[in-house]
Amino acid sequence: VNLKPYNSFGLPATAHRLVRIRSAADVRRVVDHPKLGRAPKFVLGGGSNIVLTKDVDALVLKMEIPGIRLLEERADAWIIEAGAGVPWHQLVQWSLDEGFPGLENLALIPGTVGAAPVQNIGAYGMEIKDRLDSVAVIDLVTGRSVLLPASVCKFGYRDSVFKQTGFGGLSGKSVITHVRLRCPKPWRPVLGYLELERKMAETATPQPTARQIFDWICEIRRAKLPDPAVIGNAGSFFKNPLVSAEQCRDIIGRDPHIVHYPMPDGSIKLAAGWMIDACGWKGKAVGGAAVYERQALVLVNRGEARGAEVVTLARAIQESVYGRFGIRLETEPLLF
Ligand code: EPU
Repeated sequence: VNLKPYNSFGLPATAHRLVRIRSAADVRRVVDHPKLGRAPKFVLGGGSNIVLTKDVDALVLKMEIPGIRLLEERADAWIIEAGAGVPWHQLVQWSLDEGFPGLENLALIPGTVGAAPVQNIGAYGMEIKDRLDSVAVIDLVTGRSVLLPASVCKFGYRDSVFKQTGFGGLSGKSVITHVRLRCPKPWRPVLGYLELERKMAETATPQPTARQIFDWICEIRRAKLPDPAVIGNAGSFFKNPLVSAEQCRDIIGRDPHIVHYPMPDGSIKLAAGWMIDACGWKGKAVGGAAVYERQALVLVNRGEARGAEVVTLARAIQESVYGRFGIRLETEPLLF
């Protein structure tokens, strides 16, 4: 099976075996299958957070579980349940249309509902962990279903138990079939992000509705992030590094203009996009892989890029940022 249409970077790779998963029962059928049950598994959602550098030997589980519904309306929240295969943005739109606001800051994030908790998607002052009730998973060895409450998912910045490998991590060991979101009542806007504040000032809207915030987020993202349907990409390619106040002072000594934000725990988050930009990378390319002109944190496929070119470009960026700022950037998508 050709995986090029199944990864948002549009990188060439082949899967030897691919099974479409349309229900939890489909997962159990795979687990119980005499041959497939024991094969190593590769769970694929929207393919928007992966860089394929080679063909996939493992059995690909292409997650296509559909369905969105209001599971429960409580006095203090709406609980929404969606299948892992639903495109994330479709869920955000549905919840607004149906009158259950609360996900609007996460509009237009590529990928599927099932992939969203894996890397704890986040943007404009909100992370999915802030809206997550629980996650239904199936153990890939036993076939057992478990409903994991948000509290055990070990969420961090672009991280969760589903992404972690090794002891305690669930990567490769279980698959997410459904996600339950909790939108608190009454709805309150999540503002404070600079670009949102700017939209409020420009339009003289001190008390925006959820729909208004949704529209602004879509505008902001369309203005600086490439649409994967048009230009292949995997969103931010690196995480924004966290440093101590002391390290930050040292870096400011090297460059007083560096964009940085204090975090609640006293550490400081540096804008990786700014550092990459400062090193002159915007628009630079290795083969078909390039640094996006409008956002240096995003690598794009200008045409026939291969995974190896993306990785070579990423390594060169990491070295150059390390050379100038002494910071090692971590990649955000999974490099396979
Ligand atoms: N900047 C530059 N040059 C650049 C890029 C950024 O100077 O080429 C500066 C900006 O001017 C700004 C700062 O760096 O002052 C931060 O940029 P931006 O607001 O665009 O956000 P980001 O830190 O680059 C993060 C997330 C995005 C998310 C936005 C908005 C990560 C790795 N990325 O980007 O998430 O949409 O904030 O909340 O945390 C993703 O994960 O795929 C993603 C797109």
